[in-house]
Amino acid sequence: MSSEFLNYTQTNSETSDISAEPSADPAHFKADALVVFLESDGLRGPLIEIDKSTGGLLQQLFQQGELTGKRYECISLYAPNGLACKQLLIVGIGSCEEVHAGVLYEASGAAARRLSGQPRATVGFLADGTWSNEKLEQAVAGSIMGVAGQDLYRSEKHQTPFEKTVWLQAPVEVVQRGSIIGEGVKLARRLVNMPPDDLYPETFAEEAATIAGRVGLEIEIWDQARLERERCQALLAVARGSTRAPRIVLMHYRGPGCNDASPRVALVGKGVTFDSGGLSLKTSEGMLAMKCDMAGAAAALGAIASIAALKIPIHVVAAVGLVENMTGGNAYKLGDVVTARSGTTIEIHNTDAEGRVVLADVLDVVADLKPSCIIDAATLTGACMVALGRDIAGIFTNNQAYCDVLENAATSVGERVWQLPMDKDFDSQIFSDVADIKNVGDGRLGGAITAAKLLERFVRNIPWIHVDIAGPAFADKPRPSIAGGGTGSMVRSFIEFAKRIASLKLDE
Ligand code: BES
Ligand code: MN
Ligand code: ZN
Repeated sequence: MSSEFLNYTQTNSETSDISAEPSADPAHFKADALVVFLESDGLRGPLIEIDKSTGGLLQQLFQQGELTGKRYECISLYAPNGLACKQLLIVGIGSCEEVHAGVLYEASGAAARRLSGQPRATVGFLADGTWSNEKLEQAVAGSIMGVAGQDLYRSEKHQTPFEKTVWLQAPVEVVQRGSIIGEGVKLARRLVNMPPDDLYPETFAEEAATIAGRVGLEIEIWDQARLERERCQALLAVARGSTRAPRIVLMHYRGPGCNDASPRVALVGKGVTFDSGGLSLKTSEGMLAMKCDMAGAAAALGAIASIAALKIPIHVVAAVGLVENMTGGNAYKLGDVVTARSGTTIEIHNTDAEGRVVLADVLDVVADLKPSCIIDAATLTGACMVALGRDIAGIFTNNQAYCDVLENAATSVGERVWQLPMDKDFDSQIFSDVADIKNVGDGRLGGAITAAKLLERFVRNIPWIHVDIAGPAFADKPRPSIAGGGTGSMVRSFIEFAKRIASLKLDE
């Protein structure tokens, strides 16, 4: 049985589709390539059958050390005897005790990335019946995500999506869910990879409208005039240095069977489509990757789109603040005092600390909607990368119970997060001599925390988690599953968070 699933990010130029064959015989499966997963402890599960069909070849290669099962090692056997596929790709997933969902996401991503180096009609992935549904979902997500690279503007593509992706010995519903999760990641990655002259506040809002149409989300787009009426003077101050007009986009999803008592999650994203630093200008080197400064907004959009396509029974609102931080003659200046929508006055000490100024207003807009909790994602501080490196997001909260849910959700899908403190003594670091607060701390130390402290002032007392994705949002080196560029950081965690909140009672 084969069925086509909703690929809501699919454009006309992409024709890939995904299906599940729950009871297919992998040895007789005709495909350009068949992907199988190998543990470093040796052959097990579905590999036993494959090995038998090949007359014990895999076992022999493993014993000779040609196959190791080391994580993300990809070994291809061409025209394998006894199998109907043209190529068997064996991807390593490491020790069986450490095969969590994130490893399977990376492994099938690595296999998909490798195989997408050439056009292929049909690629099969062989599931292991002992995997949990969650593991299988993430493995499928990786197989969808991994075929997309940084080819948007290349005349000769380095990667081509498969015409057909087929998951063998996997339940249809799980494959469908995994593919929807993969589409969300792919969407976020594509937006991050778009050059800033093509993706700016207005065009980001148009992309959001297109996606909202495909998955059936209600969408509000606030233009300059509306932002002025709403007194979003902080966001507008940042936008003033650019010829591109700012936007706030709000998307609403109401899950099936939800009522007014159902939990309502707000996802907020920093959408600085390019961060030059403003008058506190960045160096050329520091500016190069700053098209990625809308990755938080991309994560919020990717996540709500997938949550809607998955029909998770929960309310979600996604709100993104879209601006370009530039140096035009009307740019906001050091020493300026801006009055945020909440009435709080902010003295500007550094125009490069613009993300928190934008989010001050977006968080206030969202707080008006009285959600049960707010999560924001932002490429907020270089200081967070100094603290945690490139691959780990910093998380900050005013509510430990919700933060624990997010932490567990992230861990379960293999995204790395680490909580940083929000102790009271940091509050005074953003006090200003002339306004309520200033937009930087005293000096650079603890910079990720002082940034979070500013945001905290705008969420009133609503349970809130801030995720600083300055490190993980953008890969400047390739990794097994990704060519480089946007990673779709936090999309999978946010989807998993929504799932868990939908089925959980929290003591507040
Ligand atoms: N968008 C940057 C943070 C960033 C840096 C993201 C590197 C991804 C990679 C943010 O707007 C910024 O410039 N932050 C300043 C704050 C400082 C002026 C207090 C920083 O981290 O240097
Ligand atoms: Mn900046
Ligand atoms: Zn920024």
